[in-house]
Amino acid sequence: MPLRFKFCLLLCLLFLIACGGNSEAPPPTPTLNPQAQLGKQVFSRDCGACHSTTPDTLIVGPSLAGIASRASSRVEGQDAYSYLLTSVMQPDAYLVEGFEDLMPASLSKQLTGEELDAVIAYLQTLE
Ligand code: HEC
Repeated sequence: MPLRFKFCLLLCLLFLIACGGNSEAPPPTPTLNPQAQLGKQVFSRDCGACHSTTPDTLIVGPSLAGIASRASSRVEGQDAYSYLLTSVMQPDAYLVEGFEDLMPASLSKQLTGEELDAVIAYLQTLE
């Protein structure tokens, strides 16, 4: 085999090794800040039995996918934060169309202030 050909083969081999396998890094997973991370845990513990975060998936309550974008237009005069806070503190203040008043008002007393802030911060990431 001519030397030049061997050299070419070697180059090809090196190229394959360099480019094979891990050439594409996986896309970075979006990370939640520590408060929203805590909120996510509170959510799975206290809200996840009734609310999904997958679009159009109803459990007992509506899916909260996209709630961050919807929250500010639910009740006139309430911005997203006030609406979300009121939804937990006083669930019967506004009922989502098609749903009954099944969300427990006692949640507001079970959660510590830190947990309440955290779960609202988490809901605000669900755009
Ligand atoms: C026992 C079931 C149940 C649990 C537990 C529950 N919810 Fe709900 N939730 C509902 C129902 C039913 C509705 C719809 C009626 C209403 O608007 O109150 C609702 C409505 C909501 C809404 C309004 C959604 C919208 O599209 O405007 C928010 C926000 C919400 N819940 C947040 C929470 C959070 C946060 C928790 C946990 C701290 C929680 N819920 C726990 C049943 C539940």
